[in-house]
Amino acid sequence: MSSNESVEKHYSVHWQEEGLYQAPPEFIGQANCTDPGIYEKFSLDKFPECFKAFADLLDWDAYWHTTLDTSDAPCWRWFVGGRLNACYNCVDRHLDKYRNKTAIHFVPELEEEKIEHITYQELYRRVNETAALLKDFAGLKAGDRVTLHLPMTPELPITMLACARLGIIHSEVFAGFSGRACGDRIWDSESTVLITMDSYYRSGKLLDHKEKADEAIKSAEKQGQKVDKVLIWRRYPGTYSSQTPVVDGRDYFMDELLKNYFSVVVEPVSMPAEDILFLMYTSGSTGRPKGCQHSIGGYLAYVTWMSKYVQDIHPEDVYWCMADIGWITGHSFIVYGPLALAASSVIYEGVPTYPDAGRPWKIAEELGVNIFHTSPTAIRGLRKAGADEPSKYNYHFKHMTTVGEPIEPEVWRWYYNVVGRKKAVIVDTWWQTENGGFLCSTIPAVVPMKPGSAGPGVPGIHPIILDDEGNEIPPGAGKAGNICIKNPWPGAFQTIWKDKERYIETYYRRYNRDPNSKDWRDWPYMAGDAAVMAADGYFRILGRIDDVINVAGHRLGTKEIESAALTVEEVAEAAVVSVNDEVKGTVPDLYVSLKPQAQANEELAKRISNAVSEVIGKIARPAHVYIVSDMPKTRSGKLMRRILASISNYKDVGDVTTLANPKIVEEIRRQVQD
Ligand code: WT7
Repeated sequence: MSSNESVEKHYSVHWQEEGLYQAPPEFIGQANCTDPGIYEKFSLDKFPECFKAFADLLDWDAYWHTTLDTSDAPCWRWFVGGRLNACYNCVDRHLDKYRNKTAIHFVPELEEEKIEHITYQELYRRVNETAALLKDFAGLKAGDRVTLHLPMTPELPITMLACARLGIIHSEVFAGFSGRACGDRIWDSESTVLITMDSYYRSGKLLDHKEKADEAIKSAEKQGQKVDKVLIWRRYPGTYSSQTPVVDGRDYFMDELLKNYFSVVVEPVSMPAEDILFLMYTSGSTGRPKGCQHSIGGYLAYVTWMSKYVQDIHPEDVYWCMADIGWITGHSFIVYGPLALAASSVIYEGVPTYPDAGRPWKIAEELGVNIFHTSPTAIRGLRKAGADEPSKYNYHFKHMTTVGEPIEPEVWRWYYNVVGRKKAVIVDTWWQTENGGFLCSTIPAVVPMKPGSAGPGVPGIHPIILDDEGNEIPPGAGKAGNICIKNPWPGAFQTIWKDKERYIETYYRRYNRDPNSKDWRDWPYMAGDAAVMAADGYFRILGRIDDVINVAGHRLGTKEIESAALTVEEVAEAAVVSVNDEVKGTVPDLYVSLKPQAQANEELAKRISNAVSEVIGKIARPAHVYIVSDMPKTRSGKLMRRILASISNYKDVGDVTTLANPKIVEEIRRQVQD
């Protein structure tokens, strides 16, 4: 479905309203925000000056003169004139009080490896040395882009912070993504340096990760982007754990280079608030991934406020967000937000169920984790693999988060009753890579929780539901529509890297009242999700309205998967549909038709599936590959993905008599379902 099609006809709304849950008194007693007037402080008539409260959580080198500049609408500029350094705010400013406190607890996947506790002083030292290396050895400076393809070890936040210290724009690519996906992002961001790691653990196996770097560089170079240096962290310093040869004059080991920078201190560069902190790529409905461009001042202020008041982080908390830093959740809520508040943030290398489904609860016990943050996919997986595991461990959560996909009320209740033991609040946080931080959620000590609903807009965010014509659907109407945000906010991305037109087209064009307007009121932000607003102002998110599949809380473009399938010589046409899955929420099913001479067989299906993993990454691997003799098409030749989706989901295909080839539908149905 394209973003212009009707959202109403695709989503019918039929569930019962859930009851409300109140926060336990012990939580309220210690909460960072208990002020029922908090929403009033961020009402639209106080916009945009109310966001000063966000910026005031940071240390500024120079205060800003303009809170919001709309002159280049809808590219909003926040805290204009202000100067600051993100690394200074996450590290240096804590040293006086918290030098000796743990900043990062690193939990290796193998249980026999020791947990590493990195203090703020140690973090300061390692970030400085890394920054010195990036500056002097790699020749990087403010404004340069550098691609990171790093797994979940402390070297990832250390590298990010070292970049931030110098004003270098980091672009971290999820380590599970393929070399080619990384290459596309190197090319799009025009990076000349790639920072990677030789290997890391996943499900008990030491994976060769450096091989992806060679693939990435090859693919970037094919597109015209040359990489001069590959900087390789080693999982075990001094030992190279990859089979891939080291390329002379291009590849360097970080641990060896760092010996030249022992104890070197690099002054944090005072950066304009509106300069770029990082790029984070996400999938859209067309093939090319979008580089979401996040600012230094607005972004950091936003995630710090959300970490303090929605995540309820105090410096004495042990906070664990079990996401991957390779996604926006990890950038905002493992690294930047928590560290800006001097929290102790846990980084876990591996999979939640290694070696068994008790691992997260065991880690929570070992480290005294009291704030826990994860996705519905992980919760469903842990519940399925070990519903009684939490009771075996002695931990105490005060606060839990869910993010990334809608959570079923049943699953929510297991999280609440069994994982949280009815003693922890839950916040269901709805947002996107583009947004920097939460859009809808509850302020946990102020408004109650409702299973399956993300909650109202967070303070300062004013969501509305618009119908196809742009009319507001009133609260409680029981009708789905497009969820939009009326106002800009400091955490929002500034644009799509090098593609302002696509930025406007994707998020603003549909509901924009006047393309020349400089008034933010004319530019509601369209998120691309269908949602319903209940009478009490809580939002329930239903899913994407575009050609995007949300697998385990991560966006994949159907076009990306289809193009990957088409790299296999024999494939003539490919169509991806999303299928409901008990654990992952939704997964992709891939339908392909072949060129005339090609033979359908298991081996070919497997090759097509492997091609998708190779081009994008394992996360995109189709649940099934169906080789069909023809695709259902309209008389005008349009491929009917909707019909294939109905077949994959065992739903009624509806009336197909108007198709060019109606008989194919029954043939495919039998192939899939019988
Ligand atoms: C899409 C954004 C932002 C963090 C992780 C995903 C879906 C996100 C929720 C939620 C229902 C949710 C939406 C959104 N989504 N959070 N709490 N309830 N759906 O980031 O990869 O940018 O994906 O994830 O469909 O548009 P992302």
